[in-house]
Amino acid sequence: MNAILSARPAASLPQELKDDIDLRPLTGHIGAEIHGLDLRRALGAPTVAAIRAALRQWKVVFFRDQVLTHAEHVAFARQFGEPTIGHPVYGYVEGHPQVYSVGRNRFQSRHEGEQLIRPWTGWHTDVTAAVNPPAASILRGVVIPPYGGDTQWTNLVQAYSGLSPTLRAFVDGLRGIHRFAPPEGQNATDEFLRKNRSRPLVSEHPLVRVHPESGERALYVSPLFLQTVTGLTPRESRQLLELLFEHVVRPEYTVRFRWQEGSLAFWDNNSTAHLAPRDIYDLEFDRQLYRVTLKGEIPFGVDGTRSTAIEGEPLEAYE
Ligand code: SIN
Repeated sequence: MNAILSARPAASLPQELKDDIDLRPLTGHIGAEIHGLDLRRALGAPTVAAIRAALRQWKVVFFRDQVLTHAEHVAFARQFGEPTIGHPVYGYVEGHPQVYSVGRNRFQSRHEGEQLIRPWTGWHTDVTAAVNPPAASILRGVVIPPYGGDTQWTNLVQAYSGLSPTLRAFVDGLRGIHRFAPPEGQNATDEFLRKNRSRPLVSEHPLVRVHPESGERALYVSPLFLQTVTGLTPRESRQLLELLFEHVVRPEYTVRFRWQEGSLAFWDNNSTAHLAPRDIYDLEFDRQLYRVTLKGEIPFGVDGTRSTAIEGEPLEAYE
């Protein structure tokens, strides 16, 4: 079982956990800031439980004024689960195999020349092309532009609840193919990365994922990676996905976070998707963040059937 989110589901935070953290919700459905902690220090068990419960309820939690080293970032993450390799294709920060560098220009070329930018273009849940996508991600801001560069998250449980019962019943039984093709010309000294960069990563997941800890149903559609719905014609698949992608990014399910140096965002990857900013490519400011992801389990759908790997290896914990 996944170590992250191992506390009981919390419709709202129990009083004894509330006493442990200063929690400030940001919207009706997603996102809360947590104040009053120093994440450089080991957290006590009650505080870890309170953060887990807050994450369960709010899906993404934010901390301010936490200037961490890479080692402190990884140590914070370890209190909630097992870190994976920084990124299974793009790699990691030299000397810190669990830390992935989220630099300003990492995806610029992917955005250039894109034919059609839709409201959901770029939204994704981390590494859903793997059969066991990360359970959670922890992103820390180091160099932040004076304006621009915000990140957005959406609550996929709330999005599922927002569908009609008829459409929910239809998508409950569907599965889809998530695919990530490594960019050309990548090489690596690391054996694991070399293997991953030589072929696409492809998995089939349920469109509705049952949360491994809370049992909540999430509309598990990751617009960047989900390519087709199994068993539908290409036209049916495209049109259904457009409907679902448009639905999951509706503003009422989302939160938008303004970074500061020392901000840290911790999100449940089982029940959210997020959007990295594009406006930074029109600005000249630098932006540098670092991410640690926690190992996840193989998703299962409403009927209990697990996801299947089509190409590529599962993500492993990285000691
Ligand atoms: C990510 O997609 O994990 C990074 C988001 C960001 O750059 O804001």
